[in-house]
This record gives sequence, structure tokens and C-alpha cells, in this order.
Amino acid sequence: MGLLDVPRVLPSVMAADLMRPGEQVDALLGAGCRVFHVDVMDGRFVPNLTLGTGFAAALAPRARAAGGMLDVHLMVERPGLMIERFAPHAGSISVHPEADPQIHRRLAEIREAGCLAGLALSPGTPPSLLAGLLDVVDYVNVMGVDPGFSGQDFIATTPDRISAVRALVPPDMPVEVDGGIHAATLPLARDAGASLFVSASGIFGHDDPVAAYRELAGLAGGG
Ligand code: DX5
Ligand code: ZN
Repeated sequence: MGLLDVPRVLPSVMAADLMRPGEQVDALLGAGCRVFHVDVMDGRFVPNLTLGTGFAAALAPRARAAGGMLDVHLMVERPGLMIERFAPHAGSISVHPEADPQIHRRLAEIREAGCLAGLALSPGTPPSLLAGLLDVVDYVNVMGVDPGFSGQDFIATTPDRISAVRALVPPDMPVEVDGGIHAATLPLARDAGASLFVSASGIFGHDDPVAAYRELAGLAGGG
């Protein structure tokens, strides 16, 4: 069974304490967490800069040693070159159709690089475009916010967008939700059909990230 095939909470490490991310990751691994979400921002597709290949290369062995992996979310224009650079450190990679006019080819390249291919849909992007991409998509990342920053409010229409995606994809395809997920919003996304819950501020914004992770994992019904 693949790591994305069961309900999970994926801590987004962009919001970790960057003076001691290894310590926080190890604590979450100890609590049963196995998949970490790595947000890659280029300052062009989104107005922010975040984590690069060096960080992913440092984090991946810790996750893998525990049987886990990294889920890389590329928020970069023209993600082509970044796919091959991140793939050695990732188990899954999601890319945005708004960022690349040849998104079918990019998704195929993610698979060819040995990773699961995710299609990330910003709030303004119609879920219907999935129909032409299903042969190269392994999971869908439904954004609960416009990408770029952690700590934004969950957009209220997100559960409806998750339901729309759920109706378009095979029943066993994982649907991830990313942005604005905390204890009050996770159940809304879960009940709409999401099974993978990315959370940055909902975990690392708490004094005790492990306790916050455990609460969310309980609500998710998995790890
Ligand atoms: C947003 C990123 C998210 C972000 C979530 O652009 O893709 O993964 O880290 O942050 P929170 O959980 O704080 O909304
Ligand atoms: Zn993300």
C-alpha cells in the first residue's frame, strides 16, 4: 500500500522552526507521522520564496529512515527543471496547471522520475480540467487558499471544490487539501472527500506541534 493511500496529516515544514527543523521532524516521526509536505516557492508564481533542493535533500533521509517520504509542492513557474531536481528526494510531487502550458507533459515527467504525480488546483482553477489529465494524475491537491503563504484563512468554497474533484476522479485516487487546515476546518474537507490534509500553521503554529499533529490525525482518521 502506498503512503498516500490511507488518510494522513502532512505537516508543511515551511512553517517549522527553521532554527531546529530536524528536531521538530523527529518529534513528529515519533508520533507516527510519515509524510512531510515541502512547499517550494519561486517568488514569481507566488509572491514568496521558500524551501529548495538542499532542504529537501537534508530532510528526505530522515523521513525515509522511518519508512516515510516527502510530498513536494512546486509553486514555481515552468516547473520542468525543478521536477528532475526534486525527484530524487521526493515520493510525490504536485504541480500547478496555471504555471505551465504543457501540464500533461510535466505530470508524465514526474512519473518518469519515479514519483507519484499530483495536480494542484488553485481556488480559481476549474476542477473540470482534470478530465483531460486523468491518465497522468495519481492524486489531486485542492488548495484551500491561494498559494503563497501559510496562516491564511480557509476559503469557504473549498469543500464544494473537493466534492467536485471527488466526483471526477476514480474512487481510490487520493485527494489532498492544502491551506487553512486546522481542527475546525479539517472535518469539512474530510466530509467532502479529502483524505490527505496538509497543515503548516495548524501544527507548527502551536506551542506543542506534536499534540496539534495528534489532534488533526485523530480527526483525519489516520496517521
Ligand atoms: C500555501 C502552501 C501550503 C501552506 C499551508 O501556499 O502550499 O502548503 O504551507 O499553510 P497553512 O496550513 O498555514 O495554511
Ligand atoms: Zn503546499
